Amino acid sequence: MLLELPKHAEIFGCVKIHEIQKVLKFESRPFESPLLKGISKDEMDDVLSRMVVIIPVKDEKLHLLDGVLRSVPIGCDIIVVSNSQRGENDIFRMERDIVSNFHRVTGHPITIIHQKDPGLGIAFKEAGYNAILDDAGFVRNGKAEGMVVGLTLAKNTGKEYVCFVDADNYIPCSVNEYIRLYAAGFIISQTPYSMVRLHWRYKPKVMEDRLYFKKWGRVSEITNRFLNLLISIHTGFETNIIKTGNAGEHAMTMKLAEIMAHSTGYSVEPYQLVYLLEEFWKGETEFREAMNSGIEIYQIETLNPHVHEDKGDEHIREMLLGSLSTIYYSKLANDTVRKEILEELKKNEMIKRERELKKNRVLPPIAKMNVEKFVEVLLNHSETLTMLSKED
Ligand code: GDP
Ligand code: CO
Repeated sequence: MLLELPKHAEIFGCVKIHEIQKVLKFESRPFESPLLKGISKDEMDDVLSRMVVIIPVKDEKLHLLDGVLRSVPIGCDIIVVSNSQRGENDIFRMERDIVSNFHRVTGHPITIIHQKDPGLGIAFKEAGYNAILDDAGFVRNGKAEGMVVGLTLAKNTGKEYVCFVDADNYIPCSVNEYIRLYAAGFIISQTPYSMVRLHWRYKPKVMEDRLYFKKWGRVSEITNRFLNLLISIHTGFETNIIKTGNAGEHAMTMKLAEIMAHSTGYSVEPYQLVYLLEEFWKGETEFREAMNSGIEIYQIETLNPHVHEDKGDEHIREMLLGSLSTIYYSKLANDTVRKEILEELKKNEMIKRERELKKNRVLPPIAKMNVEKFVEVLLNHSETLTMLSKED
């Protein structure tokens, strides 16, 4: 792969945010210059073999999940965390059939589990990670909760990198590109604490509804604007550095993923940036090793367009509210930021009063969790965990 190297980065304490990078060629010979990096196939394969791909899924078209699985590069383990419907129309069972068939035909290592598996509830409780549980002791609904389930299982594999891809992708091979771009980011990264976030130039709509495309673009634009404002009010310099506030598709080194906190609802991605800035720019973090090594954030623009399922206006509303709430309630926000957020939300008829802007629940980092214990308990109590490794 031939990748543009970032010419510019902005530094906030020990957090370094790189400007957007473009892919110049999908395949390339090894090459190195101050402005470009040619990554060889071997270098790429090496990182891919140390990566776990987590796919959160909830009631998506089975065709889409199937396509996504087939596009994962060789070498990466796959973990599917499903919160799909059970009961009479058991979508989870169909997903599990797809996963088993995929493994039988390809031999690709893959794990699938249901988010509401009672074993998961028991295992998180035993491991002391109660924030993810509801009153009945089950893992709560939500993408962030699914991501944490995936992360915990990924940590158990001992692999170094973890990435997320959505299951509702209409262009299977774009997933292959995403995962290679994550690997490329890790290859150029200088620290064991790094994150790669994807940016799309094109986001064509799936359904006829033209408005959907416009609004989707608008959410990202608004989130980015406020994240940049949050930074600018502290530095005194206007910035545009953040272009991937709502980047659903992203990857982290396991070292960074372990110390990351996760905002629930539809705010997990913007919150990652807010959290890193709170913790490592102005904050007194307990994660000294990360602070000493430095944290890097890469933003890479894909060649493929992003075409995913249209989830409707309510979804967009939730996303904007969730995203702006994480900024509004950030320790870094001041009156100016808060006032502008409220104005934006009122202008878009999202809320009428301040008290309608709910604070997002946050799941703490999994760093302190006893993962060995978690896995031991899970293996004893799980009803849905299916781990298909190479030898099976
Ligand atoms: P967007 O693409 O970020 O606007 O949001 P989506 O609704 O497409 O969600 C992203 C991914 O998370 C998709 O693959 C969803 O199926 C999946 N997802 C949504 N809610 C949940 C959930 O509660 N649990 C799990 N495990 N996955 C979920
Ligand atoms: Co989607």
